[in-house]
Amino acid sequence: MALRQRTPAVQLLTVVLLALTAVSPIKAQFGANGTFHPGGVTRNFSVTGPWNFIDTLSLNYTTQALPQSFARAQCQTGQPAYPVVEATIDGVQQAMLAENLTCSQLIAAYVQRISYYDQSTGVNAVRLVMPDLANVTAAKDAQLAAVIASGNNTLPDLFCVPFVVKDNYDTVGVATANGAVALLDNFPSADATIVAQIKAAGAVILAKGNMAEWAFSNAVSIGSAFGIVRNPYDTDRVTAGSSGGPAAAVSASFAMIGLGTDTGNSIRGPSGHNALVGIRSTIGITSRAGIIPLILNRDIGGPMGRTVTDVAKVFQHIVGPDPTGRDDVTLRSANSTLNPYGIPSNYTQFLNASGLQGKTIGVLRSLEFNPTTSPDGEIQNLFNRAIMDLQSLGATVIDNFTVTGNSLGDKPWDGRNSWYVGTGANGSFVGFSNPQCANWIEDLQTYLSTAGSSFKTVNDIYVSGGFHPSVVGSFTSNMRNQNISSASLPTANGIAAGQVCTCGDDLTNPCRVEFRTRLLAAMDAQNADALIYPGWANPARLVGDYDSPLGDLSQIIPPNTGMPGIVVPMGYTSRGLPATLQIVARPYAEPTLFTIAYAYEQGTKRRTPPPGFSECTANSTSSGITSKEAFP
Ligand SMILES: *[C@@H]1O[C@H](CO)[C@@H](O)[C@H](O)[C@H]1NC(C)=O
Ligand SMILES: *[C@@H]1O[C@H](CO)[C@@H](O)[C@H](O)[C@H]1NC(C)=O
Ligand SMILES: *[C@@H]1O[C@H](CO)[C@@H](O)[C@H](O)[C@H]1NC(C)=O
Ligand SMILES: *[C@@H]1O[C@H](CO)[C@@H](O)[C@H](O)[C@H]1NC(C)=O
Ligand SMILES: *[C@@H]1O[C@H](CO)[C@@H](O)[C@H](O)[C@H]1NC(C)=O
Ligand SMILES: *[C@@H]1O[C@H](CO)[C@@H](O)[C@H](O)[C@H]1NC(C)=O
Ligand SMILES: *[C@@H]1O[C@H](CO)[C@@H](O)[C@H](O)[C@H]1NC(C)=O
Ligand SMILES: *[C@@H]1O[C@H](CO)[C@@H](O)[C@H](O)[C@H]1NC(C)=O
Ligand SMILES: *[C@@H]1O[C@H](CO)[C@@H](O)[C@H](O)[C@H]1NC(C)=O
Ligand SMILES: *[C@@H]1O[C@H](CO)[C@@H](O)[C@H](O)[C@H]1NC(C)=O
Ligand SMILES: *[C@@H]1O[C@H](CO)[C@@H](O)[C@H](O)[C@H]1NC(C)=O
Ligand SMILES: *[C@@H]1O[C@H](CO)[C@@H](O)[C@H](O)[C@H]1NC(C)=O
Repeated sequence: MALRQRTPAVQLLTVVLLALTAVSPIKAQFGANGTFHPGGVTRNFSVTGPWNFIDTLSLNYTTQALPQSFARAQCQTGQPAYPVVEATIDGVQQAMLAENLTCSQLIAAYVQRISYYDQSTGVNAVRLVMPDLANVTAAKDAQLAAVIASGNNTLPDLFCVPFVVKDNYDTVGVATANGAVALLDNFPSADATIVAQIKAAGAVILAKGNMAEWAFSNAVSIGSAFGIVRNPYDTDRVTAGSSGGPAAAVSASFAMIGLGTDTGNSIRGPSGHNALVGIRSTIGITSRAGIIPLILNRDIGGPMGRTVTDVAKVFQHIVGPDPTGRDDVTLRSANSTLNPYGIPSNYTQFLNASGLQGKTIGVLRSLEFNPTTSPDGEIQNLFNRAIMDLQSLGATVIDNFTVTGNSLGDKPWDGRNSWYVGTGANGSFVGFSNPQCANWIEDLQTYLSTAGSSFKTVNDIYVSGGFHPSVVGSFTSNMRNQNISSASLPTANGIAAGQVCTCGDDLTNPCRVEFRTRLLAAMDAQNADALIYPGWANPARLVGDYDSPLGDLSQIIPPNTGMPGIVVPMGYTSRGLPATLQIVARPYAEPTLFTIAYAYEQGTKRRTPPPGFSECTANSTSSGITSKEAFP
C-alpha cells in the first residue's frame, strides 16, 4: 500500500538508493611506492609506513560508486518531472507552488543525472549521494503540501534546493573524507555551521563532492579517496582545485548549488574552469566551523552556482557571527570598526541590472601581467571584451589601475604574491603567504583532536602512506616546517635581511596589513568601487599536464588582504573552455560585488551549459563522452 501512494519519482529515488547500497565498494587509489605518469611524464614517489590499516579503511568505507551499466540504465527510466538542466532556485520553487513539481521529484531528477552521467563520463564529481534523501524529501513534500493548502504560498528561501557539499565540510551521517583515504572513517558528530545554516533555510544536502586531497592543489582535484574530477566542458581537462567536485557537479546540473572552500583560490578557480559564479567572502563574515582547515588564517567557505541570483540567495543565510559560537573570526562582522557596512539580512536587494551605472572599476593589469604569469591570448581578448561590456553597461573603467607606496620597503607592489622589502642582505621579495609556517599542521591537528578520524596527527597520516602520490611533495614540505610556529617568524636571519612578515592573519601579519592598506588607499584616491582582473589567466589544463602555464591569479588579493572576490563567466575560448571575470571589493562590501556581478551577468549572459549533459529523456543513450586518456 505504501508503494502505491508514492509518486513515480519517489519510486525512482528509492530504486536508486537501494541500488547504491547494494553496490560493492571500489578499491580506493592511494599512495604506494612506484611511479605514476601524469601527461606521459614518469614521476617517482616513495612512502613508508604501515599499509594494512589504510587498506582495511579503504575497503570498509569507500562506497557507492555506481557501475556504468547501472548508470546508463538510469536516464532511460524516463524524462524527469521537471527539466533541471540550468534550473534556478526561483524557477523550481515557482513550479512547486504551482503544483507542477514535488521536492522528491526534483531530487530524483538530480539523482538520476548523477547516476547516468557522473561515472559514465568520467567526470567523477560526486563521492557519494546522501543516504537519507528519501526521508528528507518525504518531509519536504509534506511541508510543501501544507504551504499550498494554507494558501500562504511562501516557501523558505532555500526550500528543496539541492547542494553538492565539498567533502571537507562536516555532514552528519556520512564521512568527511577531505579527498583522503586516511579520513574515510571520519564520521562527524555535528554539521559544519554553513551546512546547518543552509539546512535551516530549507536546503537538501544531496551529495558529497569529490575534491583535491587535503585541499592542497589549486591546479587539479584529485585524491586517494575518489580519484580525479574531470571538466564537463572537456573531460580530457581538469576542473582546477580544490573544489572541483562541487563545481563540476553544478556545471553539469547534477545539483543547483555547490559549497566550496577557498584558501588561496579554491572556490574561484574551479568556478572559473566550470563557468560558474563563485564567491570568496571577506575573512570574518562566514564561519569555517566544521570545515577541515587548510590554513585557517585564510580559509573561507562559500557557494558556487550557475547564476548570481542563486548565489546571493545562499549567501544571505551564511553571513554574520557563527550562531554555534565555534568560529571567533565571525565576531569581526559585528564590529563596526572592522565592518562599517553591517550585515544585510537580504542580499538579493543588491541585484540591480542597472547597477553598473555610476560605478568606477580599476583594471589590475599589474596582476594580469605580473612577472610570473604567461597569460593566454584568448583569455586576454575575453577580458578586454568584458571591460568594454562593463563600460557599455555604464561603468567608468580605470585601465591599468596602479597601487603605489610601500612602507615596508622601497618599491611598490608589482603584481606578485610577494612584497619587496628593499635592499637587505638578500635584496629579496618576501611572500605574504609564508608557506614556511606550520599553520596547516597546527590547524589540521586542532580539527583532528575532536574529529571522528582514527588519525590525530599529520605525522601519523604521513607515515601511514594513506594519500595520493601527487600530494607527497606537499606533505614533505609541510613536515619540514612543523616546528616553525606563529611565534618563530621572522627569524633572526630574516630580520637581518629586512623581513617583517609573520605567520599571522590578515589583521596581524604586517605584510598582509600593508598590502590591504595600499590597495584601499589606491581605491580611495581613484574613487574605485571595485578592482577586476581575469579569474585565471590561462584555460583549463589537460589532465596530467603539470607544466604548461597555470594562470591562477586568485591567490594574491583576497586571501592575503581578507577582501572579498567573486567570479562571473565571461565567455569561452575557441576550444570551448570557460573563462571568468574576477571582481574584488573593499572588506565587507559584498553588496557592491553582487551589484556589479549581477549587472554584468544580466548584460552579457555569457554562461552556456556544457554540451553532452543534456536533459534525460526516455530515449537517452550513452552521452558519447569518453575520456581519451587513462590516469591512475
Ligand atoms: C625514478 O626512478 C628510476 C628507477 O629507480 C630512476 O632511474 C630515475 O632516474 C628516477 N627518476 C626521477 C625523476 O627521479
Ligand atoms: C617504500 O620505499 C621505502 C623507502 O625506499 C621503504 O622503506 C618502504 O618499505 C617501501 N614501502 C612499500 C610499501 O613498498
Ligand atoms: C573494518 O571493518 C572490520 C569489520 O567490521 C573491523 O573489524 C575493522 O576494525 C575495520 N577496520 C578499520 C581500519 O576500520
Ligand atoms: C505549471 O504547469 C502548467 C501546465 O503545464 C503550465 O502552464 C505552467 O506554466 C506551469 N507553471 C510553472 C510555474 O511551472
Ligand atoms: C527514515 O525514516 C524511517 C522512519 O522514520 C526510519 O526508520 C529510517 O531510519 C530513516 N532512514 C534514514 C536514512 O534516516
Ligand atoms: C506565510 O508564511 C511565512 C512563513 O511561515 C510567514 O512569515 C508569512 O507571514 C506568511 N504570510 C502570510 C501572507 O500569511
Ligand atoms: C573592533 O575592532 C577594533 C579593531 O581591531 C578593536 O580595536 C576593537 O576592540 C573591536 N571592538 C570590539 C567590540 O570587539
Ligand atoms: C529581499 O529583497 C528583494 C528585493 O528587494 C525582495 O524581492 C525580497 O522579497 C526580499 N527577501 C526577503 C526574504 O526579505
Ligand atoms: C539601480 O541602479 C541604478 C543606477 O545606479 C539606480 O538609479 C537605481 O535606483 C537602482 N535601483 C534600485 C532598486 O536600487
Ligand atoms: C601599466 O602601468 C605601468 C606603470 O606605469 C607600466 O609599467 C605598465 O607597462 C603598464 N601596463 C600596461 C599593460 O599598460
Ligand atoms: C638570505 O640568504 C641566506 C644565505 O643564502 C639565507 O641563509 C637566509 O635565510 C636568507 N634570508 C632570507 C630572509 O631569505
Ligand atoms: C524517442 O525517440 C522517438 C524515435 O526517435 C521519438 O519519436 C520520440 O519523440 C523520442 N522521445 C523522447 C522523449 O525524446
